[in-house]
Amino acid sequence: MELNPWGSFEVKDYKKLMKNFGIDKIEPSKIPEKHHFFNRGIIFGHKDFGKVASAIKNKKPWAMMTGLMPSGKFHFGHKMVADEMIYFQKLGAECYIAVADIESNLTRGISLEEARKTAVEEYLLNYIALGLKPKKTKFYFQSQGSTDYMNLSKFVSKKTTYNELKSIYGDITPDKMVSAFTQVADILHPQLKENGGPKPVVVPVGVDQLPHISLTRDIANRMKFIPPAATFHKLMPGLKGGKLSSSDPGSAIFLTDTPKEIKKRVNKYAFSGGRQTLEEHRKKGGNPDIDISYQWLTYLEESDKKLKQTYDDYKAGKLLSGEMKGLLIEKLSKFVEKHKVNREKARKQVDKFLK
Ligand code: TRP
Repeated sequence: MELNPWGSFEVKDYKKLMKNFGIDKIEPSKIPEKHHFFNRGIIFGHKDFGKVASAIKNKKPWAMMTGLMPSGKFHFGHKMVADEMIYFQKLGAECYIAVADIESNLTRGISLEEARKTAVEEYLLNYIALGLKPKKTKFYFQSQGSTDYMNLSKFVSKKTTYNELKSIYGDITPDKMVSAFTQVADILHPQLKENGGPKPVVVPVGVDQLPHISLTRDIANRMKFIPPAATFHKLMPGLKGGKLSSSDPGSAIFLTDTPKEIKKRVNKYAFSGGRQTLEEHRKKGGNPDIDISYQWLTYLEESDKKLKQTYDDYKAGKLLSGEMKGLLIEKLSKFVEKHKVNREKARKQVDKFLK
């Protein structure tokens, strides 16, 4: 199995993936502060997180570093990643967030101006509204990093070989190589002298980014850097099932959608794990494990107790599939109403991140 950070793929067997790529299971008891993403297997695995956990415990400096692809509108799948970043920030991380404008230009043909607009209007604004704070946070553009960061993105090329790149990425073209080196520099630069020197860094990402993590860890060992740790999350599925895609209205819900639209689209598209007829559902119960409304609630419902009740009631046939959709609609609607206000407030803070 090959993971291609620039293609699309779906993971069928997480156990096998973890075994093949040396991803360790998350042990919720070893996580510094509880979050439902961990105990529900949404953040399902990690590499080397132990050294970040011990830096947190011993009050040593550590950082969270991740990047965003500035394409399309901000949806609930993006919110999950933002929630992770904010979780690490609350734990005391120095935060580094890269806008992958060089990568989006090279691999998707998005202009730097367009990338900037999307990054600020869609991503940054929503991050702030969700609770990201400017303190100890560097939000930057790959096209505009510091001189040492820019140089690092070139010098790392000397620390790998064409064969290594081919074995990690498969067929690789020059544009993708430059994107990969830029990302390696993103991940290593929190450890540059100008940022306080070597320290444990955690990179929260989807598994599609694993090749970049592997390359960066190899290169870190060959330079004077601590190999970065990573946590891996399962991407939210699309409403209809399959991959969540922002260009398909039957797939994504955006944070700017109105409750009316949400109700319409969830009812129309959300894949149901319910039975064909009411009698059959009451008798045999539904299947929450394939029901997308339920799957989305595992991301959104913070109360373990409530979620378990929903799961049990659905399985027992007490909760109908329309009612399951109703629970999701309510959750999403309440959220977007509140978020609308928060996003307007967030506008005033945007400049603090763009210094
Ligand atoms: N390649 C990432 C994506 O496609 C974006 C990214 C750029 C990134 N630099 C990064 C992710 C550094 C993690 C760390 O989404």
